[in-house]
Amino acid sequence: MKKFVIGNWKMNGDALEVHEYVHDLKNALEGMPCSVGVAVPSLYLPQLTALLGRIPVSVVAQDVSQFKGSGAYTGEISAAMLRDAGCDYVLIGHSERRQYFDEDEMVLQQKILCACDAGLTPIYCVGENLEQRLQCHYLQVLDKQLEALEAVRGHLPDTVWVAYEPVWAIGTGKVADAGQIAEVHAFLAARLAEILPGRCHAHLLYGGSVKAANAREILALPGVDGVLVGSASLTVAELSRIIAEAGAPV
Ligand code: PGA
Repeated sequence: MKKFVIGNWKMNGDALEVHEYVHDLKNALEGMPCSVGVAVPSLYLPQLTALLGRIPVSVVAQDVSQFKGSGAYTGEISAAMLRDAGCDYVLIGHSERRQYFDEDEMVLQQKILCACDAGLTPIYCVGENLEQRLQCHYLQVLDKQLEALEAVRGHLPDTVWVAYEPVWAIGTGKVADAGQIAEVHAFLAARLAEILPGRCHAHLLYGGSVKAANAREILALPGVDGVLVGSASLTVAELSRIIAEAGAPV
C-alpha cells in the first residue's frame, strides 16, 4: 500500500496561498510515490476542491460538527456540508481540538458518527501529553481515547485512519524516537484489531514535528502507513521533499 502524506495547515493561509499552493503542488506530484491529502481551513475547502480538479490529492477537513443533519447550531459545519465541499476525509480529535475546545470522547464519538454517516473517512487523532508520557501512563491514555471509535464501531466504514500524535511532539520540534513510535503503533494496531469489527481495517499515521529530514526514517518504521504534517506542510517545497521521502528506498 502507498504511504499517505497529509498536510494540515491548521489556522494558516489565505485564498491566494491556496491558489499558489495547488499550482506548485501539481509539479511536485509528478510520479508521486505516495497518496497525498491537504487539510486547509474549512472556508477554503471548496476552493481547494475546485483548484485540484482531477489532480489526485484528497481534500481533508480539519474538524466537523458533532451535530447530525442541519439546524440551529450557529457557526457549525456539518459532515454533509464537508462532503458537499469535496472532502473525503476529516480529522477528528486533533489534540488542539481536545485542548482548546474541550473535546472529549463523548463529543468525538458523535463527530465520528456524523462523519461516517455522511460518507467521510475519519482520521481519528490520539496522543498523550508530556506528563502522561513521563509518568508512563501513555498506553492507558491512548486506550481511553480509542473508546470513541469503539463506541461507534457498527457505523465505521471498512477503512479508518488513526493518527498517533504525541502532544509533546506537536509544533515543538521534538519527534518521538523510532522505538517510541514503533511501540505505540504496535499497541494501537493490536487494540484496534480487538475493538473494531472484523470487516474494518485501521491504518496508522504518525504526526508531530515531521519534516523532510526525518520523514524517511519515520515512514520506514513498522506499522507507520503515513504521516500527518503540520508546519512543514505550509510550503510546497518542504511538503514535496516529504512526499519524495515517502517513496525513497530505506
Ligand atoms: P507539526 O503538527 O507537524 O507542526 O508538529 C502536526 C499536527 O498537529 O498534526
